[in-house]
Amino acid sequence: MLFTPFDLSGINLKNRVVRSATYEKRADEKEFVTDSLIEFYKELARGGTGLIITGNALVHPSGRSVPQMTGIYKDEFVKGFRRLTDAVHDLGGKIIIQVVHGGRQCIPKLIDDMPPLAPSSVYDPFTKITPKEMTDDEIRHMIDCFGDAARRAKLSGFDGIQIHGAHGYLVSGFLSPHTNRRDDQWGGDEERRFHFLNEVYNSMRSEVGDNYPIMIKMNAEDNIEGGLLPNEALGIAKKLEAVGISAIEVSGGMYESALKTARTKILNKKEEAYYRENSKLFKSELKIPVILVGGIRSKSVAEEILQTGTADLASISRPLIREPDLPSKFMEGKEKADCISCNGCMRFMRLDEIKCVQLEKNVKE
Ligand SMILES: Cc1cc2nc3c(=O)[nH]c(=O)nc-3n(C[C@H](O)[C@H](O)[C@H](O)COP(=O)(O)O)c2cc1C
Repeated sequence: MLFTPFDLSGINLKNRVVRSATYEKRADEKEFVTDSLIEFYKELARGGTGLIITGNALVHPSGRSVPQMTGIYKDEFVKGFRRLTDAVHDLGGKIIIQVVHGGRQCIPKLIDDMPPLAPSSVYDPFTKITPKEMTDDEIRHMIDCFGDAARRAKLSGFDGIQIHGAHGYLVSGFLSPHTNRRDDQWGGDEERRFHFLNEVYNSMRSEVGDNYPIMIKMNAEDNIEGGLLPNEALGIAKKLEAVGISAIEVSGGMYESALKTARTKILNKKEEAYYRENSKLFKSELKIPVILVGGIRSKSVAEEILQTGTADLASISRPLIREPDLPSKFMEGKEKADCISCNGCMRFMRLDEIKCVQLEKNVKE
């Protein structure tokens, strides 16, 4: 089943392996696409992945959480992205762009020493930073920025867009009762915590029209006390389905949560696909495609997820950093990815670009 075609809201995928959004650290200092980034995506396209989701691209400079991520906050970025999408399409690949604002988890030194913007001023013990509560004007401006990013994504030739609504970044920050403590139209109860995402979606949809896929990656749970829980997340997912979202990728966690988004020590098949119960829940109540990410390492696990109706697509991040051709290898009979989930690839600041440190002998410690 893994290597059978799938129609994802009009995108004809040759198989059901998705490359989950993975920041590359390959944009230039001004966040433009580079030749190195294009080569990196060509390798992924050649490697057989059915759908590539780019690393998160910035909708506004105030949302920078890591250096040298790509930007999509100016029309000037379109030209580079067009080269990238052409390169992937020439190789028969499909590619969508993930758009983000880092919200509470931005690092001040990357945003002109300004405090990060967030729904509420809730101290983050991971970054040790207290963000600034956004004003109504700032919220409305950011909604427009997501819309503008969507227009540029379509102009750039992407097959669709994914909203980064997971992992504690801005959209996820509004959804979470832990990070959204407002009591106005943008927070206070489930409905009002959904308001920002709803407006972001509407703004994007009005820019790209009805027949262009807009998906979301969202937390099914924040894994933190007082955070988003699966039932409320499912409620959000149902609202998204009702307004027209094309697909949902199920993830979880934020910087400060004990159980991380990218978990280590995935030692056996049972520990793989660690959001499978959430995915099952979403699948049981939604009609739109559900994509499962998190710890998928074995072909048989990916296959089982599809066979059992746990998800429609199997999404992979870290193993594709080590083996960009993993889908082709799976197809040829390989059972397990080489990735050992050490998270060495997450040493963003120290690495010149995101790569598998197990394959690199000279990475600076
Ligand atoms: C180096 C690195 C960069 C990542 N960048 C992103 C990103 O840009 N957007 C996103 O939604 N998730 C990002 N993630 C999380 C992954 O997409 C994925 O959800 C997580 O690693 C679990 O999947 P895996 O076990 O297949 O790696 C990143 C993870 C790593 C290791």
